[in-house]
Amino acid sequence: MTIEDTTARPSVTRRLYTDEEVLRQELATVFAKSWLLVGFESEVPQPGDYVTRRMGVDPVILTRSESGELHVLHNSCTHRGTQVCKAAFGNSANFRCGYHGWTFGNDGQLRGVPGRRAVYGPDLDLKTLGLRKARVGAVHGLVYATFDHEGPSLDEFLGDFRWYLDRVFGFFPGGMEVYGGAHRVIVKGNWKIHAENFIGDGYHLRIAHRTMFELGVMGTQAGAVKGFCISAPEGHGVRAQYVDDESLSDIVFGYPDGLLDGARPADLPDAMAFRAASSVIHGTVFPNMPFITTAPVTFGTDAEGQTAFTQVRTVMPVDAHSHEVTYWALVPKDAPEEWKKKSYLYSVRQHGASSYFEADDLENFRRIDAGLGGIAAADVPQNYDLGVGVEPVSGKPPFSGPCTVLSQDFSEHNQRNFYRRYLAQLNGEAAQ
Ligand code: FES
Ligand code: FE
Repeated sequence: MTIEDTTARPSVTRRLYTDEEVLRQELATVFAKSWLLVGFESEVPQPGDYVTRRMGVDPVILTRSESGELHVLHNSCTHRGTQVCKAAFGNSANFRCGYHGWTFGNDGQLRGVPGRRAVYGPDLDLKTLGLRKARVGAVHGLVYATFDHEGPSLDEFLGDFRWYLDRVFGFFPGGMEVYGGAHRVIVKGNWKIHAENFIGDGYHLRIAHRTMFELGVMGTQAGAVKGFCISAPEGHGVRAQYVDDESLSDIVFGYPDGLLDGARPADLPDAMAFRAASSVIHGTVFPNMPFITTAPVTFGTDAEGQTAFTQVRTVMPVDAHSHEVTYWALVPKDAPEEWKKKSYLYSVRQHGASSYFEADDLENFRRIDAGLGGIAAADVPQNYDLGVGVEPVSGKPPFSGPCTVLSQDFSEHNQRNFYRRYLAQLNGEAAQ
């Protein structure tokens, strides 16, 4: 572990946020070469269950086949390319193309072709015409996929950053599950603005979300806090913020009594140290999976209903100027139903598509897009100097995790690391 901010300052031209040619390039070099989150095992618990998603701009179907196996299939008929599944979710053994009727099993195999022998003769080889399949991997129920069959394994892609994912998503012995389904919205602004906001932008909190402080609803985040910016060479990063009070070192805010008993299995050392006294932990799995787990904020008379929540999202480009956000609320599987519901409602209310936090952030993303859209902007680099040359002030981290751990709450260390990795991939220089 190091606590020095040695991340080189990348030069980030504003063309990266506005240029459709850059988008085409990053789809091929960043999205197509990364493991991307497509959904959760708990979204497809039964054989035949499926959800439709996107990987970059490629439509895909996450399915659980009759044998119980997970598949991620290109949602594009191998005849003429038509999307074979139009629904957002459902249960089906087959996907029948609406154009000429080719029918694919939920494992991607081509099962039937209308009038097969009469119109194609005896030689049509169904086995070679299945839907294109991605590689699939799962971590604590999060399902990742990539069409890069030659690239690193999911373990290699996550690298040492897995330590932090284990302690966010593997913290509860019974695991976590999606509650309330996936919410989707298309918003203004380049997808990277959103990804970098989550990877470590503690700096905007008291300005962009100032109203929340003035209303007195920020709870544990409003008092004395210390924070740490953690980055991995694979581009991932997380910011962990703690209430600066030693007496809270065994308190995980917002979870019901009993749920934490027996948690933190022995094979997750320092899991409690990482989670306890934390007011917020938020990060981004490179390139486009922001996540957050946070203590409850305070809503006046609503104190009885307070819960913590964990939210995962993906930010997928639509074009250079807009992106699609998909939001999921995750709850511990073993939590009482009433608690799960409250946690979900808090997630939606605080960080959902139309929540008060999101209204602040999305408005800024929209205005960034407006500010960068012209000719004059192209020559001015984005600035990522925050924290450079500043002595770390947060002291020793309460946990001993891997990767680069910077004892600084307000720093663009993680953003610099994100862009270093992003630019290396964009320019074809990243080690795979
Ligand atoms: Fe799908 Fe023709 S495009 S069957
Ligand atoms: Fe924000």
